[in-house]
Amino acid sequence: MGELERLRELSRENKSLKSVIEKSISIIQGCSSLEDTRDARIRILGRKGMITAVFEGISKMPEDERPAAGRAGNEFRTLVTALLEEKEKEIEASIHMESRELEGIDITLPGRCPPLGKKHILSKVIDDVVEIFISLGYSVETGPEVELDYYNFEALNTPAYHPARSLQDTFYVKRSDPEREEPDDILLRTHTSPVQIRVMESRKPPLYVISPGKAYRKDEIDATHTAMFFQVEGFAVDRGITMAQLKGTLEVFARKLFGSKRTVRLRPHFFPFTEPSAEVDVSCFACDGAGCSICKHSGWLEILGCGMIDPNVFSHVGYDPEEFSGFAFGMGIERIAMMKYGIEDMRYFYDDNIKFLSRF
Ligand code: PHE
Repeated sequence: MGELERLRELSRENKSLKSVIEKSISIIQGCSSLEDTRDARIRILGRKGMITAVFEGISKMPEDERPAAGRAGNEFRTLVTALLEEKEKEIEASIHMESRELEGIDITLPGRCPPLGKKHILSKVIDDVVEIFISLGYSVETGPEVELDYYNFEALNTPAYHPARSLQDTFYVKRSDPEREEPDDILLRTHTSPVQIRVMESRKPPLYVISPGKAYRKDEIDATHTAMFFQVEGFAVDRGITMAQLKGTLEVFARKLFGSKRTVRLRPHFFPFTEPSAEVDVSCFACDGAGCSICKHSGWLEILGCGMIDPNVFSHVGYDPEEFSGFAFGMGIERIAMMKYGIEDMRYFYDDNIKFLSRF
């Protein structure tokens, strides 16, 4: 008969020992380390432990009961000591097993680090640009990439005869029912400017909005053109907005992105949806405007297109051009990333070459 069974029998035979026996069994069975068994030994067999208390109780019994109680107490001590030793052996054996499993393994070697993914360089530049405008109080809005002709062209004061609408430049999307005689009114947006219309249509000024996203053009793919690219659009509509505020805003932006010594200049340009319109250059961050290979010895780098929102645009969204004025700008993210990080070919962004992407 094992110690455990005999202990249980003993507790049935001696009602006065029942609780102390059960308690000691549960203490021993609950041990999971050698520290536990050391504590258990003290609690059960120690000088002030449970066994001592049992014998103190026996010494206070009537004389004729003491011999039997003493025998039971002694047996309890023997059994519980054996049970505890068994538990200790069991724990020692399992410690041995664990260390044998580790044999031949150098646990002091540094762990192997799996390669971590990171943000694509274009995502990082977009985030940087958007963050600058958020710090100026702009809110972020987005619009659909599959867009209606109305938002991409018509409402942006780009009439049907405008060359930008030609089939050569724009990806048109076929309607699902080819039998239906519908005009080509669905397209992949050619710029992020339609977001201007969508936001103005659904909200009232004051508006200070920044809008990153993809745009598509049927361009021949080369070092400076891809059929899909990223733009960030920005615009402000409020009472009394002037071109001076447009220039000041772009200067703050250019300094935050390219460094505090930068200046900007506006060159007259044309966009159908802004009047007057301009292209914006930033003084070359590589040569401080002295002229170098990055700025093709001009001292300036073109970063975006902009202008004052044309009153014809306001008329499409029901704003009174006598009450409100606004500016808008749009920039190509690949272009800005190429300048900032000295990348020579736009196609690198989309080649998924880990060696290239991990450079940034
Ligand atoms: N949408 C123009 C482009 O794609 C850029 C632009 C945006 C110009 C807003 C003026 C105002 O070239």
